[in-house]
Amino acid sequence: MNKVQIIGTGHYVPEKIVTNDDLTKIIDTSDEWISTRTGIKERRISEGENTSDLATKAALKAIEDAEISPEDVDFIVVATYTPDAFIPNTACIVQANIGAVNATCFDVSAACTGFIYGLDIATQFIKTGRAKCILVIGAETQSKVVNWEDRGTCVLFADGAGAAVVTSGEKEGILACYSGSDGTKGWTLTVDGVPVRNPFTERKSGPMYDLNNSTIKMDGKEIFKFAVGIMIKSVDELLKISGLNIEDIKYVIPHQANYRIIESTAKRLGVDIGKFFINIDKYGNTSAASVAIALDELCKSGKLEKGDKVLMVGFGGGLTYGGVIIEW
Ligand code: ACO
Repeated sequence: MNKVQIIGTGHYVPEKIVTNDDLTKIIDTSDEWISTRTGIKERRISEGENTSDLATKAALKAIEDAEISPEDVDFIVVATYTPDAFIPNTACIVQANIGAVNATCFDVSAACTGFIYGLDIATQFIKTGRAKCILVIGAETQSKVVNWEDRGTCVLFADGAGAAVVTSGEKEGILACYSGSDGTKGWTLTVDGVPVRNPFTERKSGPMYDLNNSTIKMDGKEIFKFAVGIMIKSVDELLKISGLNIEDIKYVIPHQANYRIIESTAKRLGVDIGKFFINIDKYGNTSAASVAIALDELCKSGKLEKGDKVLMVGFGGGLTYGGVIIEW
């Protein structure tokens, strides 16, 4: 089996900053409510760039950081639930944008756990020798599926992209991967797709396609409960797989969904919150991009030394969950 490592990371977020105060101009809310219930102070919102645009910019930064060229990439995996289109997939658009002519390209749909699923897939492809160099990207433009009249959700979700270059190498850099799903709870977070409508189905009056329903609907309380339990289970499983203790982990990068979810998880694990890398105040919940952006920020922060172990853990629509432990 080949050894697998992350050799470069990058991220890109749109320039437009939307603060909590900005949101008070369009919905009945306050900076105080959003800050205390979620930890979010501001988020980035696209002014026209689509998911592939954000993904392309993050990818180019990761490629530069890894000191490789786009031709070296065997696979591009884009984790997103907000693709530009059904076809072509976002990864193919990124391929064309960056000139990664040797890559096989596909998207992974696992909402906020998408980047973690992508890292897991890349790890297995490289371990078995199927690939040498894989670009894993988490990218979302959730602003296009947010219901901007629903104050219960529109304050949470935002846009951004993060990327990592995963290769075979001398040293084992991926110490554990773990993932799972619970489809029975899928109803707690939904964005409708196109219904089955064609000339051969019975339909009442109205347009053939009604895409106005394609906005995020969420049962926040159910997800909150699920999130804390599943993050703890995922951390336990990852530690078991790797044979490590929580004390061996320098940083935990949790999915940045809500500061209170992260705080409750830390408390129930008996771990100091300072071990958790948190940037939700700046970006909100960027779904598949969240862990990827945080990973890049942590890698560039100067806080990591050779040999440090970082545990990434997340959950999301589906419902999906999982994590990865890496060694720096
Ligand atoms: N501003 C002001 N008041 C608000 C707002 C707002 N933005 N949103 C809701 N409220 C009100 C509600 O109407 C309610 O008022 P009421 O008591 O008069 O009915 C009150 O605040 C309390 O609302 P709750 O929904 O009970 O608030 P809660 O403390 O549960 O927080 C939240 C809501 C932040 C959504 C929380 O449940 C949460 O974070 N859940 C997890 C969500 C999550 O992680 N989703 C992402 C999944 S990952 C993915 O795949 C994309």
